Formats: sequence, C-alpha cells, structure tokens
Amino acid sequence: MSRLIVVSNRVSPPRQGAANQGGLAVALAAALRETDGLWFGWSGEETETFTGAIDYQTSQGVTTATIDLEPQDTEEYYNGYANRTLWPLFHYRIDLAEYERSFAGGYARVNARFADTLRPLIEPDDVVWVHDYHLIPLGLGLRRRECTNRIGFFLHIPWPPRRLLLTLPSHMQLVKSLFAYDVIGFQSHDSMEAFLDYVRSELGLEVDLQGAFHVAGRRVTAMVCPIGIDARAFAEVAQSEDALTMQDAMRKSADGRAMIVGVERLDYSKGLQERFLGYERFLASHPEMHEQVFLLQIAPPSRVDVGSYQEIRATLEALSGRINGAYATADWVPIRYVNQGYPHARLTGIYRAARVGLVTPLRDGMNLVAKEYVAAQDPDDPGVLILSRFAGAAEQLREALLVNPHSAEDIADAIAAALAMPLAERQSRWRAMMANIERQDVAWWMHRFTRQLAGGALGEPIATF
Ligand code: G6P
Repeated sequence: MSRLIVVSNRVSPPRQGAANQGGLAVALAAALRETDGLWFGWSGEETETFTGAIDYQTSQGVTTATIDLEPQDTEEYYNGYANRTLWPLFHYRIDLAEYERSFAGGYARVNARFADTLRPLIEPDDVVWVHDYHLIPLGLGLRRRECTNRIGFFLHIPWPPRRLLLTLPSHMQLVKSLFAYDVIGFQSHDSMEAFLDYVRSELGLEVDLQGAFHVAGRRVTAMVCPIGIDARAFAEVAQSEDALTMQDAMRKSADGRAMIVGVERLDYSKGLQERFLGYERFLASHPEMHEQVFLLQIAPPSRVDVGSYQEIRATLEALSGRINGAYATADWVPIRYVNQGYPHARLTGIYRAARVGLVTPLRDGMNLVAKEYVAAQDPDDPGVLILSRFAGAAEQLREALLVNPHSAEDIADAIAAALAMPLAERQSRWRAMMANIERQDVAWWMHRFTRQLAGGALGEPIATF
C-alpha cells in the first residue's frame, strides 16, 4: 500500500483523550497510521518572515508536518481569498463575496509556499490527497515542481452553479488548476453536476459516463463521495458517562418541555437567521405550544476577523433578543442562544435529549451535524431530524423531514409535524437513516476516494439516490 500524504489548511492530529476529536481526523489518522503517512498543513501560527521550516510531530502513530505563515498570508489567504471570496461564492452568496486582487495574490503565494515545502517530502510511490477550498491550486503547484504522483482533491463545501462562478475574476484559471488532479471528489451529485456543467459549457470538454474527461493529455475523474461520520465510535460516545450525565442534566433543565436543538459554527451559510424566523412563526401560529417547547441554539463564533461573520453575530443577538422579549414568561425562555462550544461527548448527550434536531443551512457541502444527531439517538425513542434540502446530507437522508430553509412557514410546519410525530414513524424514519449512516461511514468515504485515486474500482454505488 502506498504511503498517503494528506494536505489540508488545518491539521488536527489525534490527541490522547481529546474530547472533541472529529470523525474526519479519526478516519484520516487510521489511514495515515496504516501507511506510515504524513499530514501536512498550516500550523495556525504566524511568523514574521516565512522560512519554510517544518515542524514535525508524532502523536498516536500519526506524523504531522506543519508550517507557519506570515500575518499578511493569514489576512490575504485565510481571511481573504478563502473566507471572503471562495466561501461566500461557493455557498451561493455573491452578495457577500469580496473580489480583491490582493486576496487572489495571497492565495497564489500561500499555495506556492505549500508546494515548495511539500514537494521535497514526496517520494515516488506516495499518493497525495489535498483537502478543501483553501488549496485548490496546490495540485498544479506540485505538477509544476515535477511531481508525477497520483494526486487527488476533495471539496468539503458545495461547488457553485456556473453562472455564479462566472462572477469570480479568473474563474477559469481556478477551474483549470483542478485539472492537475487525477481525481476530484465532491460531496453531492448537485455539486459534481455543477462542476461538470462548467467543464462542458465553458471549456467544451466531453465528459464520459464515469465522470471522466481528457485534458492536456491527462485523464481527470470527477466523483461523488459523500463524507460520513464514524458511526460506531459515535454510538459508543453517546453511551459514555459524560454523554449520559449531560443528557440527564438537559432533561432536568427542560423540565418536561420538548427541546429542539441546533448546533453549528456561527456562519451565515447555516441559515440561523431564517431558522429563528421559522421558529418565531411556529410560536406565532401555535400558541398552545408556548411554554411546552424551547430551542437550544449552540453557535460558537467562527472566523471572527471577517466582517460578514461579525454582522451575522449581531443580527442573531438582536433576533433572539426580540423573540425572547416577545414570548418569554417568568419561567420560560423560548430560545436559549449559546455562543460557546461543547466537547463531543457532552454534545452527544444534548442530541440525545432533544426531541427535534433542526439542521437548516441555506447551503452546505454535507453537514455532519445531521448525521451525528441521528447517530446519537436512542433507538427506542428517537428524535426527529428536520433537514434543509440544500445540505449535501439531504441526498442521503431522505427520511428526514426535508424543508426549504428560506421559508419560515416550511420550518414552522416541520417543527409542528416533528413534535406531533408518532413513535412508530419516528422509529422507522430513524432506522432507515441510521442504516445509511452506518453503511456509508467515514471509513467507507475514505476507502471510496483512496481506491479511486489508486486507480481501482469505485466499489458499491451510493445508496438512496
Ligand atoms: C468547514 C470547512 C473546513 C474548515 C471548517 C472550520 O467545515 O470545510 O475546511 O476547517 O469549516 O473552519 P475554519 O475556518 O475554522 O477552519
């Protein structure tokens, strides 16, 4: 088996006893351990002058190699092109996208820094797997440095429709840089189709039935490869003492009221404002449910140096205040709005205590909270998942209550339906979703991608499409 080199902007190696270790890190760690691989990326630290010095660390059998970036890099590459240009554009928010040449310059510079530092570490038989929108041009950077290895790219966020992408100055350069990869993975059919539409319409390339096309003498394959969670480990965490203690504490504090839960980074793509408005509509149209229900919204701040994130935070503070002001009584607060994050085990306990999981992003590559909410449920008495039809997860979790997150009425109706759903229907919907989450888990995702990258067969088709 070839050595695997994983590259991502953030590097999160496995940590002993880490409470909030993500499934992605766990799955990648397993593959890295198996192949004696390497995880390369940004340390998250700044240095006055970039030196290319690599900091190696080994933790639980996984070696990471990280570099520091200059403050100007953080500003132009991370806060700039990645999070002020690509993130909003790829989430269909061209109203928030900022197109600045300095950002594009910083993005090119940092990707070149990655390529320069990573190239000498790559040995002839290694397989390289690059992750996410921060590093789209890295494959081309490596090819220009005479790297002939198999290199794959996986996009964790949505790919935007062609007409939106056309608003990006140098959109073609960005797309063409992807052709340096052997395999390009997407979370959903929706994203892959949008990408192939661009490839066909703007570049006139012919795409075969396998999603492959030939360009500059190379074969490039696009594939749908939906990311999953480590369902088994997750179910175990849900039974842990921390989880059960939290579940108990939440039940007590709910005091017989039904809890609706939402958990996400404080990000405008998550549809939090629309969710609050939908919940407000539910309260307005269901006076009999007052004091019977509450919404716990957990939203730890994210990318705090970017203006649009500061704005969404202010908007949500005002909105939650307004709704609570209008409906709260002496012993009932309709929205518990919390800006702090929780360790994984405790979150699981919260999911388990919630009658409804409300996951309503306006756009999302996949959304793993939807899968985690389902995986955490008690099979005998599962809660109901309300899921945006614009999350990648909606292609797999057809038995959720699918809603249009832009419609307050849709959200309000779904909340009412979820709260009234009979036990037998909750169980059958839950079983169908759980079967999918267990089958197409994070290990399945990783093997599906790495098998394709190694030139092997795709394996089982994606279920429920
Ligand atoms: C999304 C992106 C990831 C990113 C994460 C957290 O899930 O797909 O690449 O790491 O958000 O965002 P941050 O900017 O804190 O890394």
